[in-house]
Formats: sequence, structure tokens, C-alpha cells
Amino acid sequence: MPTLNWLSRNEDLKSASQTDYCLLEEVPELGAGDKDTGNMLIQGDNLQALKALLPFYAGQVKCIYIDPPYNTGSAFEHYDDNLEHTKWLSMMYPRLEMLRELLAEDGSIWISIDDDEGHYLKVICDEVFGRNNFVNTVIWQKKFSPSNDAKWLSDNHDFILVYAKNKEIWKPNLLPRSEEMDTRYKNPDNDIRGVWTSGDLSVKTYSANTDYPIITPSGRVVNPPSGYCWRVSKEKLQEMIADNRIWFGSDGNNVPRIKRFLTDVKQGLTSMTIWTYQEVGHNQDAKKEVVAFNSESVFTTPKPERLLDRIITLATCEGDLVLDSFLGSGTTAAVAHKMGRRYIGIEMGEQAKTHCVARLQKVIDGEQGGISKTVNWQGGGGFRFFTLGKPVFDSEGHINKTINFAQLAAHIWFSETKTPWNVPCKDVARHVSTALGVHQGTAYALLYNGILHDRSVDGGNVLTSRTLNIIKQDFGDTTYEKLVVYGEWSKLGKRPNIEFKQTPYDVKKK
Ligand SMILES: C[S@@+](CC[C@H](N)C(=O)[O-])C[C@H]1O[C@@H](n2cnc3c(N)ncnc32)[C@H](O)[C@@H]1O
Repeated sequence: MPTLNWLSRNEDLKSASQTDYCLLEEVPELGAGDKDTGNMLIQGDNLQALKALLPFYAGQVKCIYIDPPYNTGSAFEHYDDNLEHTKWLSMMYPRLEMLRELLAEDGSIWISIDDDEGHYLKVICDEVFGRNNFVNTVIWQKKFSPSNDAKWLSDNHDFILVYAKNKEIWKPNLLPRSEEMDTRYKNPDNDIRGVWTSGDLSVKTYSANTDYPIITPSGRVVNPPSGYCWRVSKEKLQEMIADNRIWFGSDGNNVPRIKRFLTDVKQGLTSMTIWTYQEVGHNQDAKKEVVAFNSESVFTTPKPERLLDRIITLATCEGDLVLDSFLGSGTTAAVAHKMGRRYIGIEMGEQAKTHCVARLQKVIDGEQGGISKTVNWQGGGGFRFFTLGKPVFDSEGHINKTINFAQLAAHIWFSETKTPWNVPCKDVARHVSTALGVHQGTAYALLYNGILHDRSVDGGNVLTSRTLNIIKQDFGDTTYEKLVVYGEWSKLGKRPNIEFKQTPYDVKKK
């Protein structure tokens, strides 16, 4: 497959695996509401933040929306949007790779972009997500009037690139039907099947078999228009007339049409790929929304809540996990919150506090801007706030002394299985067993940092017959074919189906 080349490509392809695993440190005073909802705001560079999330959330995220800096050459008040072209690609590539690892098998990623980098982004996304998982490019009409001072053309749309993790599995939801659409359905003949609208009986794909005259109830002879034929055979038409499914007008003299009942149409609409500002809002709507929670320092490039509502409606159901790693003013988190989805938002700028925390606090209090009225938002819920903590390994590759058992356990579990450790981030500190779990027939155990309350030399971090017995007890009735034990050292001779791995040397960096 053809790929895009740029100066630092070879190093950038290694960047995701070479990024340090850092821990996330909670800042309790910046969280709000019910903190056990699983919602997280993280302040920090998303390269490290995404890596920190992998051991817990790999393969779990149903919808990723990102709105990275477009590289327009501007210096906005809250962030810089002027990276050299190569640097922009270097910035995006490793992040896209990690985002892919976080996506659920039936998940999707939606990326806002414009002409500056959009076509380059498409090529690197094809490489990362697979060309066959590309779904569509959505055109979002972001402005409602031309900029007459534009030097060339007045650009009034953004792109949203959509990829599925696996297009064979992913299926977008339908969009709700609007009341306006339903008002097109009437019931002029009081049909007991309810309201209906009528559709053409003629079609352009010509077939001589269905080209025949029809006599209306008033006695008029009607033929299909020239070059057309009827949609159904003579026999089928008779059945449909008998079942009152053909409409000849109230006086029985019109060209026949097929009755289409509201009860027969899909209970929603398949999304099209051009989204107008009337449907999903425009830039000025978004600005008004952000002024409401920080009018002193208005965030310059927010997206409207309705745009995120559309994406989240198509890509998720209630309770699903949504991730935005370029959170800006917090739009994705606010909309996910109001729509009853769980979310993780990452933002490196101070706006993580000044805008995202402030906005979500208002959402919890029941704020009525943006999509609140449409979704009947009444307030409630909560989130935790984190910053990036220490790296798991120090500069010499040793495990950082302050890393606790559960933090190392999550890291080891993920590097061995490439699946998240099934203890939610918030419960990690409460884990009290040497048994990490069983994956595809292999059980993993860890002796580290006094989990057995024995920190003596030769004590709880060393694999001996005594610690092996404790590990076996910790696994209880769970069955497995092989046991892998991580520890400082092993005093146990070779045993069938038991493999010892030494910390830190055997803890893979990836
Ligand atoms: C275009 S704005 C996103 C706006 C957002 N969609 C909204 O509705 O408010 C891009 C954001 O990404 C943030 N950002 C850029 N690089 C980042 C990085 N490496 N890690 C985390 N955030 C980053 C910027 O600080 C900026 O706030």
C-alpha cells in the first residue's frame, strides 16, 4: 500500500512504543459531583496520557472524537496552531496509533480537520486504521455567511474523517426522525393503518413487462411517462388496490401512487454526509455556548454541542465510553455527560481547569445551554481530575520505587496480554492479591512491594515454595494451564508449567 513519507517518519513510527508509561495522579479538589461515575479529565500531553490509559482502557472506547490543531498557521490565545508540516505529522502519527489501540472492536473514530492537513491526515489514517475501515468524510458547514475579505475562496466547511476499528462489525445508529418529517404523513382516507405519504408508482429502469395501462376509479386510462414503466406487475397492482395501498387522489382521477405508512418506515434516519449548520450548529453557536461558562477568556475554536450530539448519537449508546484527547473547552465531555455516556477528556493547556472543569461543574449543576433542553438535562453525575504523574520506569529502566503494586500490576498485565487489567483506575489502590488474572489459559501473578506484607530480603518479593502456595491460594478455584510469576528473584527450581520473570528486566517497556 502506498504510504506518506516525511523527514522524521522512521522515528515517529517508533514514538508510541518508546513513550514512557506514566501514572495518572488524581487532584481530588478539581473533581466534582459523584466521582464514581468513571468520568475522567486529564491535564497533560495526550501522548503520555494515552499511554497511561492503555493498561486500563485498551479496546474499551466506543467512540473517539478528536479536534486537533488544524495547523492553520495561527497562534490562538489558548494554544499554538502553527507547527511545521513535518512536525504536525510527527505529532499526529503516534497519537493515532494509541487511539487505535484504545478503540473497541465495534468502535469508531471521528476526526475534525480542514484543508490545511486534511488530505495528509487521510493518508496516515489509512495506514493506521486500515484503508478498508475508512467510512466517510463528513462535510460540516461551519459558517453561515461568506467572509468577503477572503483572499481566494471563502471556506465555510470542515471535514470529519470517520474510521471504524472494524468496518465489518461497526454499524452507526440511526438519527431520530424530526417532527417536521412526520408532519408530511397524513391520513386523507382515514386508513386504519394510520398516517401515510405517497410515493411514485413509476420507475426509470424500464421493463416492458410492467409497462401497461391502468384505469383509475374515475375511468381515466393512465400510462407510465415515456421511457418509464410501473414499479409493480399487473397482478401485484391488483393486490395492492384490493389492500387499499394505491392512492388515486380524493376524486379517484389522479395518476396512481403507492401509499407509504409511517409505521412501515425505519424508526430513524440514515445519516447523510453533508451536515448543515441548521442541523448541527455553526462556529458562532459554539462561541455563544463557551461564553456562558468563561466570558473573560473566551475559547477561540470550540465546536457546537449539537455537532458532538450528532456524532455521539451515531456512534454510541447510553453508558458507552467516549474519548477526546484534544478536549479544548470541554465540548465532547459536556455533551457526553448530558447524553449519559461515560467519558475521558485530555487537554494539555490550562483550559483543562479554566474551561473544562468550569464547564462540567455547570453541567453537573444542571446548566441549560447547548443541547440541554433537547436531551432534557437536569444535572447530576460527576468526574475525577488527573494530572500526569511519575513514569513507571526511571531513566535507567528500573521500576520507580514509588510505584505501588497495583500500578505495576496493570502495566505488566497490559504488556503481557494487550488487554486492559479489569480493575477500574479508581479501584487500583484497593487490589490486595498476588493474582492478576488468567488470559488465554495463562495465569499471571506478581510479587512486588510488600503485597505479602513481607519486605525482608528473601521475603515476599521472591518466588519460593511458600510464596508459590500463597499465589495458588490467591487463584483459588480458577483453572489455568500455565502460571507466569513476576518477582525480584526466584529460589524455586524448575517446575512444569511455571515460568518466572524478573522485575524489572522482564517487564517489557511496551
Ligand atoms: C481545536 S482545539 C479543540 C476544541 C474542542 N473541540 C472544543 O470544542 O473546545 C485543540 C485543543 O487541543 C489541545 N492540544 C494540542 N496538542 C495537544 C496535546 N499534545 N495534548 C493534549 N492537548 C493538546 C490544545 O491545547 C487545544 O485546546
